[in-house]
Amino acid sequence: MLVKTPPMGWNSWNTFGENITESLIMETADAMVSTGLKDAGYEYIVIDDCWSLRSRDENGRIVADPEKFPHGMKHLADYIHSLGLKFGMYSCAGTKTCAGYPSSFDLEFEDAKQFAEIGIDYLKYDFCFKPNYIDGPLLYRRMGMALKASGRDILFSACNWGSDNVHQWIRSAGADMFRSTGDINDSVNSFKEIAIGQIPLLGYSAPGCFNDIDMLIVGMYGKGNVAFEGSILTDDEYMMHFALWCMMSSPLMIGCDIRNMNQATKDILMNKALIAIDQDEEVRAPFAVGGKYDESPLILFRHLANNEYVLGLFNFHESFRDPFVELFEIGLPVKSGYGLELTDIFTGEKIPKFKSYVNLHIEGRTCRLFKAKVVEVQ
Ligand code: GLA
Repeated sequence: MLVKTPPMGWNSWNTFGENITESLIMETADAMVSTGLKDAGYEYIVIDDCWSLRSRDENGRIVADPEKFPHGMKHLADYIHSLGLKFGMYSCAGTKTCAGYPSSFDLEFEDAKQFAEIGIDYLKYDFCFKPNYIDGPLLYRRMGMALKASGRDILFSACNWGSDNVHQWIRSAGADMFRSTGDINDSVNSFKEIAIGQIPLLGYSAPGCFNDIDMLIVGMYGKGNVAFEGSILTDDEYMMHFALWCMMSSPLMIGCDIRNMNQATKDILMNKALIAIDQDEEVRAPFAVGGKYDESPLILFRHLANNEYVLGLFNFHESFRDPFVELFEIGLPVKSGYGLELTDIFTGEKIPKFKSYVNLHIEGRTCRLFKAKVVEVQ
């Protein structure tokens, strides 16, 4: 098994789109180490779409764009490996990549070999330009086999945006993670819709294959390739987004320019308690309690390893809320004799033993997360 917990890294797409170069990727790899992101657990440096020339060479191989990558991809792979990091690249299951570059339809085994020779550790595999006559799942099965046959351990990051009920079959195609939604953009509404839409489908994540709810927008502040109509998020909103991704055991692929992060962005992306939740070895899905979240905050509860639990409140409304969390909804009826004790993971504040329910205050557009312990109560 390649991945027991959700993969963590950086991907070029959200900020840089087609504007990728060797020096950008090298500087990003350097920043991964010097900022402490590597020590926090981030290890993959992934180049997304637009890395090659528009046509293959006379031997049918994909050619790195010499203007963007003057020393070729192997040189970059070696550099990234020399820093103790892993290297990811991108291709697509259809006849062209989403941005119109050569992709691997019907050349899966040849391309997988080429990627293995470059020395990649991760392949993101997109879904644009799929011929109508061929089955989507079959194309992922093909690349799954091609990567395994390539002679190198290559994490298979499928990206068909949730098509064909991907949750149900993608693990059987050999993928290690799978994009389950359309593309994120740098707005609250985008991460809210993605997260809420995936709640019923998180149970498909387990060691070996994870539901990837898309790359992070933390720290983008309205700049870059996935900016959205002048939207500029606050750090509290980015914290909500990051905490949701961790609550949902999503892969954590950073999308901002990590060479230029402010302190708030670093603090969010390297929050130890949240990363530990994301990486919890049991990979259990959270469930929602507290009724409809069009009026109240989204309230999620999740079992962690070692008899621990996490309670998360996410208030998408502009103004504060004072929701009640009813313990019977998480499985603790009053007559059980048990209640909860909560510790705020951001402030350390303790909410001592209570039974039946707890009334929690939460400001607008913020999140609160608590480690929870089950305790006896009279
Ligand atoms: C699709 C994917 C994105 C990105 C682009 C590149 O839209 O979902 O994550 O890879 O293609 O063109």
